[in-house]
Amino acid sequence: MAKHFVLNTGAKIPSVGLGTWQSDPGVVGNAVYAAVKAGYRHIDCASAYNNEKEVGLALKKLFEEGVVKREDLFITSKLWCDHHAPEDVPEALDATLNDLQLEFIGHSEPRRDPALANLKATYHLTSHLPGQQWRTRVPPAVDQVECHPGWQQMKLHNFCQSTGIHLSAYSPLGSPGSTFMNSNVLKEPIIISIAEKLGKTPAQVALRWNIQMGHSVLPKSVSEERIKQNLDVYDWSIPEDLLAKFSEIKQVRLLRGNFIVNPQSVYKTHEELWDGEI
Ligand code: A2P
Repeated sequence: MAKHFVLNTGAKIPSVGLGTWQSDPGVVGNAVYAAVKAGYRHIDCASAYNNEKEVGLALKKLFEEGVVKREDLFITSKLWCDHHAPEDVPEALDATLNDLQLEFIGHSEPRRDPALANLKATYHLTSHLPGQQWRTRVPPAVDQVECHPGWQQMKLHNFCQSTGIHLSAYSPLGSPGSTFMNSNVLKEPIIISIAEKLGKTPAQVALRWNIQMGHSVLPKSVSEERIKQNLDVYDWSIPEDLLAKFSEIKQVRLLRGNFIVNPQSVYKTHEELWDGEI
């Protein structure tokens, strides 16, 4: 299994990247440092995670120590939904670049893609993706969404496959550390039994399922041991007969976007936000 997927831009996205959502300041820098040293080449960030400054310091240290060069890394950040108006885009991009101490995000894209200023589309609200395509001048390369064995996104998976968009999975372990939702992905008996059969951990099985689906994964961890464990998903695979069992797992969307659903929002109900897919 290759350690990357090729995007419709020709760029390569690593199959495993480090998630930084809910990684606290004070520990996120060490996690990024340990991950890159362990072989990670993709770090998934966002200004909204309130930790990009510390991620930037860790990246600077890695560059100064010669562990990697900037061009070896794929760095994702997010234009948050409060900065989608074209006139707000440069300010948000500059803030993220300053915090991360980088000249560009992505892989080797120009610092400011002129098309970006016209992207009013909200790529991460992806149940709307089919409609967004025709509203933008550039097709999306990556659609980053919640995806794990407990929320498999088969409809979106098929759409992405047929349109050449790469699906990248956030919360690929079902965010077991989140206190505001009841995640059972790593406790799912089907996953536990497959992990036992293969001599792997439930987390590794969950990650490997996504990779075999053709999706990159962005597991978050601040533990060096688990960071390494989550990268150990290349030299083994889930055989077809066990892969078939994943279709029996109950499907529940964990991240329901509560923060964006309210009477003043354009999305007044969860059904509206997710086109009924909840
Ligand atoms: P920690 O940071 O202490 O390792 P997700 O990426 O789906 O949001 O899940 C992140 C959560 O899963 C965090 O609470 C993280 O805790 C935990 N986690 C990360 N890797 C593993 C692993 N290999 N096994 C169990 N839990 C893990």
